[in-house]
Amino acid sequence: MKTASPVALITGSTSGIGAAIARRLASDGFSVVLHSRSSVEIGQALARELGSAIYVQADLTDDADRVRLIREAVAAWGRLDVLVNNAGISRVIPHADLAAATPTVWSDLHEVNVVAPFRLIAEAETALRDAAQRGRPGSVINISSHAGVRPKGASIPYAATKAALNHMTRLLALSLAPDIRVNAVAPGLVDTPLTADWTQAQEVWKTRAPMRRSASPEDIAQAVAMLVASDYLTGEILLSDGGLNLT
Ligand SMILES: NC(=O)c1ccc[n+]([C@@H]2O[C@H](COP(=O)([O-])OP(=O)(O)OC[C@H]3O[C@@H](n4cnc5c(N)ncnc54)[C@H](OP(=O)(O)O)[C@@H]3O)[C@@H](O)[C@H]2O)c1
Repeated sequence: MKTASPVALITGSTSGIGAAIARRLASDGFSVVLHSRSSVEIGQALARELGSAIYVQADLTDDADRVRLIREAVAAWGRLDVLVNNAGISRVIPHADLAAATPTVWSDLHEVNVVAPFRLIAEAETALRDAAQRGRPGSVINISSHAGVRPKGASIPYAATKAALNHMTRLLALSLAPDIRVNAVAPGLVDTPLTADWTQAQEVWKTRAPMRRSASPEDIAQAVAMLVASDYLTGEILLSDGGLNLT
């Protein structure tokens, strides 16, 4: 199957922020590759709803699955223009409880939040460079977190993985330019299944954030769409936290 439309792969796009990004890029004219670990039926239903979309299941803790995901994404339409590394996991651990942040917690979060995005970019590099030959640089957007910018967040291991993802964003922006742009969106609190019971954080955003609310997934999709559309931006970490960092 060939398409004249640009193609975007969004990891973790059956839920929350990833699903909103997929809907937004589809409405902006992209053919979309949806992906998740286990929510296969949701992914297939969303692909039917969006029209020019397919769904691929892959566990991003498994390197063979990472390689297969990119292979199947590129094979779907014979091109890949945008890779959104959205899939991520979190653990809520009080920062002062050092014993609870076990080596297993550190390595689980590191595999999904840091190693997987790097490996997907590496596997997609050739296809993303080909985008530049068609006239626009390939684009990678990493979904990190305000926790990777400020000393905050669900846990120290989570915040450290997102800081690593932000630094990787800048390093890769430098090494992959000019063919591939690499940027990140760093959300504050976003209303998704991941944060449904984070009542304390919800209160902070309602009372202290200048915008007086947490983000909707669509707010983050808007920031992603803006970076995707901006051919001169690379190496940016776009903090999208309703201004909380100013307080
Ligand atoms: N929500 C927030 O407030 C917030 C704030 C800052 C940053 N973020 C970041 O934004 C991203 C999305 O968050 P969200 O709140 O939308 O999360 P979510 O609703 O929990 O969705 C996570 C998605 O990632 C997929 N996923 C998780 N582990 C995976 C794995 N090992 N292999 C493949 N897919 C996997 C899930 O698939 P299955 O459902 O099939 O497991 C799901 O589609 C994450 O990187 C998160 O760290 C979120």
